[in-house]
Amino acid sequence: MQQPIGPYLLLEAIEDDIWEVMGVNETTLPEHYTPEFYREIYDNFPDGFLVVKLNGKVVGYEMNRLERGLSNFGFNFVKKGHVVSIAVVEEHRNKGLGTALLEESMNKMKEKGCSEIYLEVRNSNEPALKLYKKLGFTVIRTIPYYYSDGENAYAMAKKLQ
Ligand code: COA
Repeated sequence: MQQPIGPYLLLEAIEDDIWEVMGVNETTLPEHYTPEFYREIYDNFPDGFLVVKLNGKVVGYEMNRLERGLSNFGFNFVKKGHVVSIAVVEEHRNKGLGTALLEESMNKMKEKGCSEIYLEVRNSNEPALKLYKKLGFTVIRTIPYYYSDGENAYAMAKKLQ
């Protein structure tokens, strides 16, 4: 899969992209992970580990995990996709890259039989909240002190059909 978005290319990550993804993560988000964590996410759902490249360089990514558990919309057991992390380098934001990453990850999750997608987001993260609401996510609950600095998260979810 290679989807052009203007001069950018949205595609599935290869393992070697993980180092650049770590670099983007470190400049865009306060939550950082070990290389082993990225590798574990990659191994769990390689098709759902997406990158956006400009001239061969990673400028955005989304990594996702396939999980089984209680539905966010009822009491049944479901297969669901979890957005573990998504980010776009600041100078490339507001060009539709975050939207494209999420839309493609939802397609990948549907292909794998997921009936819903969920994520956590800081209560203060306006750009991300706007993006998720635009794509049809709703707030399921607040998770107090979810982040290491004590900020609450919203758990947001969307049915995939
Ligand atoms: N302020 C308010 N809303 C904003 C915004 C801003 N600065 N930037 C984007 N948005 C909203 C808009 O609703 C926009 O939709 P529209 O263009 O139809 O109005 C929507 O987000 C999608 O914009 P898009 O260009 O597709 O997203 P993006 O490429 O800018 O990426 C993030 C969005 C959240 C991934 C990006 O802001 C980012 O990397 N932030 C830092 C990392 C982060 O917070 N990740 C999320 C953790 S939960």
